[in-house]
Amino acid sequence: MPETTATEGVRKLLAEHRQEHLLTFWPQLREDQQGSLLAQVQELDLPTIRDWVEHLVTGQPQPPIQHDFVPAPSYPPQPRDASEERKYVQAIELGTQRISQGKVAALTVAGGQGTRLGFDGPKGSFSISPIRKKTLFRIFAETIAAVSRRYGAVCPWYVMTSPLNHEQTLAIFKADDFYGLDPRNVLIFQQGTLPNFSLDGRILLAEKDQIARSPDGHGGCIRALARSGALADMKKRGVEYLTYWQVDNPLVRLFDPLFVGLHVLDGAQMSSKAVIKNGPKEKVGNFCLVDGKVTVIEYSDLPDELAGKRRPDGSLAFQLGSIAIHIINRTFVEHLNTKGHTLPLHRAVKKIPYIDPQGRRVEPKEPNGVKLESFIFDAIPLAERSIILEIVRGEQFAPVKNATGEDSAEATHRMMIERAAVWLESAGVKVPRKPDGSPDCILEIAPSFALDAEDIPAKRDQIPPIKPGDEVYLA
Ligand code: UTP
Repeated sequence: MPETTATEGVRKLLAEHRQEHLLTFWPQLREDQQGSLLAQVQELDLPTIRDWVEHLVTGQPQPPIQHDFVPAPSYPPQPRDASEERKYVQAIELGTQRISQGKVAALTVAGGQGTRLGFDGPKGSFSISPIRKKTLFRIFAETIAAVSRRYGAVCPWYVMTSPLNHEQTLAIFKADDFYGLDPRNVLIFQQGTLPNFSLDGRILLAEKDQIARSPDGHGGCIRALARSGALADMKKRGVEYLTYWQVDNPLVRLFDPLFVGLHVLDGAQMSSKAVIKNGPKEKVGNFCLVDGKVTVIEYSDLPDELAGKRRPDGSLAFQLGSIAIHIINRTFVEHLNTKGHTLPLHRAVKKIPYIDPQGRRVEPKEPNGVKLESFIFDAIPLAERSIILEIVRGEQFAPVKNATGEDSAEATHRMMIERAAVWLESAGVKVPRKPDGSPDCILEIAPSFALDAEDIPAKRDQIPPIKPGDEVYLA
């Protein structure tokens, strides 16, 4: 395509925003490639991008405004007194009712790139269960099927992907026959993407005719739910609440009646589960109250003196860590979309492959660019009310983030086996343990067998005696 007045206009506009390099390879491109690149460039909101560059990419991000923040209140895993106990009983009844009425649906965010795990494929297709090697997606699907049976309700499942893994995810669900779920109740939708930048604020090219882009963060689900039609689908089905979790946590307790019930009883719009942090600087967000609103402060933004502050009983003052498990009202997501609330963007400096000015593809060894993302927890302070339910870590949180070490598949494995052991022991089953206390056997409990420890006693007679070194799969 020869240079036309239209492309000249675009070139000029790009130059005004210091992004003229995007057309560097224009003369070398085929006509269809030129058309595609032009369309990508025309989609860029250049004034907004300039603002991002100034404030998030080249400019030093503003330090967080120093509000007075105090630890957020929470509900404990077990009620502390008789009145709380009455509330928990009422909450469980209410939560059970809402789930049975089909008013609760599942939302998994699975659009991330999973770079730390280094697994080739959507993270949901990573196999994690100790014996059957079930994938994360399969474990969630089996859980949803078991919940659906237990409550006699349809439990729709919304799965957010990104353009980087959407087709692959769809193909996996299809190849696995939607893990036995009715495909009409599984909606796989895509989140948006944002351009990637060099450290000096230039948009990177992934190919000569392609702008480098990455998913816009798990916070992107707020917009994507609306744009994809998922919100409208929920409304049509009468779904009022979303049980939200991240694709990397196989221990998550979905459709938790207590959590749903407390959220509903307290009239909240977005609520969270939390763990007690395992140290002052554990790399999880901290639940605080900022100007009276529940807010997650990133571990890097919590001043050391506050992170280390202790109560008279020795516990951390800021002890509640965010684990990305929420209940979100459908009407709250609608409200955020119609009121045009945009979640703030955060910068992450990463290794981003790109095409250099000579047209060579570069696979950087060191971080060379900036990706921008929004985080779901930034929606919490926009809610009028928000509650926090503290949970026991080993029961509900074991994220697979890294290839080795902390939060690795191996660590998650161990936690899955340990949880199964604890459930069995709570029903009086003898589980052999090693001198260091860890189970001396490999255990796997299918969601169809038990969704929680309370399901075990009724199945007691189906559990064989467990000897040291045994592998026991219960389904
Ligand atoms: P992480 O922050 O762990 O990111 O996402 P990640 O992309 O999976 O892994 P790394 O950082 O590249 O190693 C937490 C959850 O949020 C989802 C992920 O799929 C995961 O379930 N997520 C993240 C999205 O759905 N979209 C995004 O843009 C980012």
